[in-house]
Amino acid sequence: MILVTGGAGFIGANFVLDWLAQSDEPVITLDKLTYAGNPENLQSLQGDARHTLVQGDIGDRDLVAQLLATHQPRAVINFAAESHVDRSIHGPGDFIQTNIVGTFNLLEAVRGYWSGLAATEKAAFRFLHVSTDEVYGSLKKDDPAFTESSHIEPNSPYSASKAASDHLVRAWHHTYGLPVLTTNCSNNYGPYHFPEKLIPLLIVNSLAGKPLPVYGDGQQIRDWLYVKDHCSAIRRVLEAGRLGEIYNVGGWNEKANLDIVHTVCALLDELRPRADGQPYKNQITYVTDRPGHDRRYAIDARKLESELGWKPAETFETGIRKTVLWYLDNPAWVAHVQSGSYRDWVSKQYGSVAHDKVAA
Ligand code: NAD
Ligand code: DAU
Repeated sequence: MILVTGGAGFIGANFVLDWLAQSDEPVITLDKLTYAGNPENLQSLQGDARHTLVQGDIGDRDLVAQLLATHQPRAVINFAAESHVDRSIHGPGDFIQTNIVGTFNLLEAVRGYWSGLAATEKAAFRFLHVSTDEVYGSLKKDDPAFTESSHIEPNSPYSASKAASDHLVRAWHHTYGLPVLTTNCSNNYGPYHFPEKLIPLLIVNSLAGKPLPVYGDGQQIRDWLYVKDHCSAIRRVLEAGRLGEIYNVGGWNEKANLDIVHTVCALLDELRPRADGQPYKNQITYVTDRPGHDRRYAIDARKLESELGWKPAETFETGIRKTVLWYLDNPAWVAHVQSGSYRDWVSKQYGSVAHDKVAA
């Protein structure tokens, strides 16, 4: 069996669902169920004996130690984190606590468990840490994409906390021999993505007749990967990655934010036209830029491709269509995540802008 932390969040839930769709190896999900953790993401597994959801903190060393001792997993995959850059700017404390202190406590609990395993289980054990391309900082227009040996130059409280966690994972391998693997992935999109992030926010706000907030000039570039391709990369690294190595994960899909906005608007014009016949792009609203906003990310995933034979299954065009269709097909999920705490966040981040109905 495997232990998945943060498995009720966006990528973790997709990972757990895909894992159990492809294998009968049981999964324990450990998740604190913060605002971003949603048991509804795993609802299809209710009553499935292969899956157990435990509410708890990766920073709770006793709880993690007890889970490890009871269930004896052969691997821990660590998705648990505070993940939203804008929230890290408003309040970095939770990011330090979970992403750094939490990862430290998790590593210590895992080290204690792993040290006590019999030789065969000890050799087979893996700790896979899921991280981000943001640890590498920001690229200029013509810079080559980030490789695994790019400098670590995080710019936001979020990316600094993730970089710190990556360093801890590296050190636990180097110093204690813990069998770790780290993946650094580009921007994901797909089902179950919480609508505080760009793509789901665009879909949800479009349908609600609300403004589509574009930070600054909208020319910041992100490298987009369909979430299920990230999950297949993690499975492949877990299966065959070399111990202590870092693998960059990305889909070679660099897009400017404004292009993303126009793509989503055009898909909605086709799939769910506005009642008044106007295009959704009329809802685009330029808002104040994110402080310290990274200009460009791009991932060079050649190591993963050549060493482990991984390739993404989706292009951006196929993945974004699937994503928009998923949101159109799941209005109940959207309604449920738009809880009171989510509305508080929207008013803190966008003021009156995101609440106002668009006139055009
Ligand atoms: P998310 O915010 O949707 O989910 C995070 C999950 O972790 C939630 O279920 C939350 O409840 C849980 N969690 C938070 N603090 C916890 C704690 N202390 N103990 C246990 N559980 C806790 O995030 P996501 O987008 O699914 O990202 C998952 C991981 O992948 C993160 O580590 C993130 O840094 C990384 N990542 C994300 C992206 C992306 O584009 N979303 C890209 C690359 C890497
Ligand atoms: O690169 C990987 C990272 O991608 C992950 O590590 C993070 O967990 C994940 O949140 C994501 O970070 P970003 O900051 O790139 O994602 P976000 O969806 O918040 O923003 C994407 C881009 O869109 C970014 O340039 C900011 C911009 N944006 C975002 C929002 C929410 C807007 O222009 N308007 C918005 O309302």
